[in-house]
Amino acid sequence: MYYTIIKLVEEAEKKIKAAKNIKKLEEIRIRYFGKKGKLTIQLKYIKQLNSYDKPVIGDAINKTKKALYKKLKQHNALFNKKTIKNKIAKEKIDVTLPGRFGEHIGKLHPITHTLYKIKKIFSNIGYTIVNGPEIEDEFHNFEALNMPINHPARAMHDTFYFNDKYMLRSHTSSMLIRTIEKHNPPFKVISAGKVYRCDSDLNHSPMFNQIEGLVVDEVVSFSDLKRTIEILIKVFFEGQKIEVRFRPSYFPFTEPSAEIDVRIKSSNDWLEVVGCGMMKPNILKRLKINPKYTGFAFGIGAERLTMIRYGIKDLRTLFNNDIRILRQI
Ligand code: PHE
Repeated sequence: MYYTIIKLVEEAEKKIKAAKNIKKLEEIRIRYFGKKGKLTIQLKYIKQLNSYDKPVIGDAINKTKKALYKKLKQHNALFNKKTIKNKIAKEKIDVTLPGRFGEHIGKLHPITHTLYKIKKIFSNIGYTIVNGPEIEDEFHNFEALNMPINHPARAMHDTFYFNDKYMLRSHTSSMLIRTIEKHNPPFKVISAGKVYRCDSDLNHSPMFNQIEGLVVDEVVSFSDLKRTIEILIKVFFEGQKIEVRFRPSYFPFTEPSAEIDVRIKSSNDWLEVVGCGMMKPNILKRLKINPKYTGFAFGIGAERLTMIRYGIKDLRTLFNNDIRILRQI
């Protein structure tokens, strides 16, 4: 039996060495070490050895068997390593290849771009940028701007109210009051941000962006206001052929007041982009500003300017965030 086992081990060893793949090794394992394997059967005879031979021969056989099994496993691991290596090589991804759908570099939303641009234009001519709350109180949004409760002008704003006292600001003109409360004249400020009105059509959306400007100084006139807006529009539209018209208008907190319409030279449609006027003296007086100071204010519609700049017909497309449209702008 001992010699049979030695022979089997030698035979198996040769076969392991010659095996070309994992499958062959597995076949060898089953043939020798499986339940009905050649070695397994022989090993059963150890039991029949007499108590003198059993420990010596049994031990020798077990050691030989273990060494053989180890060899088999080593070969197996070697093949596994090779297989993994091949697999990695095959599945390697070239990350430097250009993507199948092309590359798209993120950029600013057109409205953000407009806001940045206008802020930049004004800070270049000495304006300070200030920020205020989107949840506004009744006093700053209406009352201090000459719109007490029941004033008909409040109806034009279609305001979203939280309760009697608080609302989503319906214009950035609340910042006129907050600025006058905080700063001593002379000053030039602008404040950009979101405003809210219950309104939705081609030229309106419930949330939109305004840029409010305020200049308070000793000799400030309507012609300064007009020139300021003309410069803004000229710089903003950078060489696009634009026409501008001033129309007399009404705001409770300015006198005289105007609305400014803009259109591309070849088109027929004017679009109102700015409301403006000279601050009414009673507002400044109520906020304890020395009467030697006068001021002008203006509110610019950021979406409207963006629409003209990029030829967008429906303001709401700016908020649908359809990536295919945004990419074209
Ligand atoms: N707040 C006004 C509006 O939203 C615009 C405006 C601003 C008018 C400043 C005059 C001065 O319609």
